[in-house]
Amino acid sequence: MKKGLLLVLTSIMLLIIAACGTSGEGTGSDAEGENEGEASKTLRVVTDAAYAPFEYLEGDKVVGFDIDFINAVADEAGIDIKVENVGWDAVLIETEKGTSDLGVSAITINEERKKSYDFTVPYFLSTNKILVNKDSDIKSAKDLEGRVVAVQNATTGQVAIEKIVGENNPDVKKFENTNLAIMELLSGGAEAVVADNTVIEAYVENNPDKDLMVIEDPTNFEAEYYGIMFPKDSEYLEEFNTALKAILENGTYAKIYKEWFGSEPDVQILIDQQ
Ligand code: ARG
Repeated sequence: MKKGLLLVLTSIMLLIIAACGTSGEGTGSDAEGENEGEASKTLRVVTDAAYAPFEYLEGDKVVGFDIDFINAVADEAGIDIKVENVGWDAVLIETEKGTSDLGVSAITINEERKKSYDFTVPYFLSTNKILVNKDSDIKSAKDLEGRVVAVQNATTGQVAIEKIVGENNPDVKKFENTNLAIMELLSGGAEAVVADNTVIEAYVENNPDKDLMVIEDPTNFEAEYYGIMFPKDSEYLEEFNTALKAILENGTYAKIYKEWFGSEPDVQILIDQQ
């Protein structure tokens, strides 16, 4: 008797679960049916979400310019993606190994990285700048010699400062993310942070009480361009390249840029780099 009841209950529950499943799928991406019978794969996008305004956490959600940007590119390409916050070192390692399909993390395109990765055309112009206390006597990159400087490990900021003070210089303190490098400056453990201009400029603007300022040195810190990063010979590179070029030209990129930065982007400067 008891067994019979259990069986009935189980069957009812299975029916409910099955019903939910069906209605859920009806509204899913299956309905689009574009890719000729081929099951569409969701690509794994990795990022280091400690880099506002490009990628950062709001609760447990990854948000930022890069996130809206990559969603727009993927949308244009008709490709499903899922962004995962794995941290900077893992962005580099996973994308090199191919356990991630692509990385979007304010990643600078450079010759060194091109040996290990493929990149799309540029989507953002950036340069390293120097974050210091307002009363600092540091006025240029050369003034950083003999000072303790905090950087995010394995970034172009680290490379830029090491070009001036030498590789493996113990005065260069390397951190897992840029926020930790900024904390080091705030706590007096470093006299400067070298990092991407947009990130440290946003930090100064959002934290006026911290009495920090940003110094530029275009002679020592060159212009850099961000790209979407793929494992070498990725089959997806061309589709993303085409879609990225399309959103640069059809106004979608400018719309997202304006939402995040409040001004018109110089799209031509990016297109000229292609
Ligand atoms: N643009 C610099 C580089 O590629 C820093 C990027 C760091 N990005 C991040 N999400 N932490 O090296």
